[in-house]
Amino acid sequence: MTSTVFTGIAELVTNDVTLEGADHSKHLGLLSDAAIVVQDGLIAWVGPASQAPPADQRREVGGNAVIPGFVDSHSHLVFAGDRSQEFEARMTGIRYDGGGIATTVNATRAASDDELYPLVAARVAEMRAQGTTTVEIKSGYGLNVEDEARSLRIAAEFTSETTFLGAHVVPPEFAESRSEYVDLVTGEMLAACAPHARWIDVFCEPHSAHAFTEDEARVVLSAGRDAGLGLRVHGNQLGHGPGVRLAVEMSAASVDHCTFLTDEDVEQLAAASETTVATLLPGVEFSTRSPYPDARRLLDAGVSIALATDCNPGTCNSSSIPFVLALAVREMGLTPAEALLAATVGSAKSLRRNDIGVIRAGSRADLAVLDAPSYLHLFYRAGVPLARALEPGGRHGR
Ligand code: NIG
Ligand code: FE
Repeated sequence: MTSTVFTGIAELVTNDVTLEGADHSKHLGLLSDAAIVVQDGLIAWVGPASQAPPADQRREVGGNAVIPGFVDSHSHLVFAGDRSQEFEARMTGIRYDGGGIATTVNATRAASDDELYPLVAARVAEMRAQGTTTVEIKSGYGLNVEDEARSLRIAAEFTSETTFLGAHVVPPEFAESRSEYVDLVTGEMLAACAPHARWIDVFCEPHSAHAFTEDEARVVLSAGRDAGLGLRVHGNQLGHGPGVRLAVEMSAASVDHCTFLTDEDVEQLAAASETTVATLLPGVEFSTRSPYPDARRLLDAGVSIALATDCNPGTCNSSSIPFVLALAVREMGLTPAEALLAATVGSAKSLRRNDIGVIRAGSRADLAVLDAPSYLHLFYRAGVPLARALEPGGRHGR
């Protein structure tokens, strides 16, 4: 296989805490004037440019910074339709309660595969153009056997990180028979979806009449675990609730939102930091005019955190990790280095992956380049499109 050496890297963020000769003061494993050798989609070598081994071809990065590609560990990209008017209403003070999900379910069910597939492709391309090299994609706008399964089949064309979210909300046709819907999700729907999914997720939220209770969520997660899926939870988004407790109890890989947390929730997450990651989605708070989660409190308590977009038509129709990073620093008390770590190695951990989110020999060559000399410019020049995924071997991030 052809090897490529990337040179002219003014600053390299490796996130490799063991890299010799790197600046480890911010846990970013920073090298200046660095080179990377890539072969067969993997990193073969990382180090100072002056010591780079020979390779078949050479690519100049032009004095720019290179970082691990962003890992967007929470998105809902398989949808049709538009809810921009809900956004407008929320900006005048209307509260989000999950009710609008039904609007997207109707539009998604009505879309043909030929309509849905290019919508997802365009969203994934939009993410890559902003530096994201891995994306997790959930179903959750089909909410019947056929449309959930096809949502996951389409998602699997773009990523191996696919998540079955049949338990997104109780669809209106089951509003009077919730337990029948839970039976469907954990029975026939799970059987049809599990072959296309790595994860199962549930929206556990007592503050939404549409979402699932703690007991219902436990049933859904247990069934998913029995079917061989890893566990993720939407929890503590709209108010205090059982999501975090349940996620920790069931050793879920991630509990996402974590906007409203008691001291006990934080203690539980800290004690479970090797197992369960708290994934923060500040684009949602931006788009729903809600208070931001306190990321500083979580990090100071020893909680493992991740940052992701939650890109979806209702609560955050933004595919931009750089936007999320800017919010995390400006509104949530993180330093730029902490925010970048959360959107790379942190979100990789929430997917139980150690081959992405880091640049070290043997990891995937999922790289992003910045049109800037330092990662700090991602924050310092917020809103400027500086980051894009590098395509070393023409491979797509999966
Ligand atoms: O993560 N909270 C539940 N699900 C999505 C919103 C989905 C929608 O409103 O369409 C979320 O915020
Ligand atoms: Fe979500």
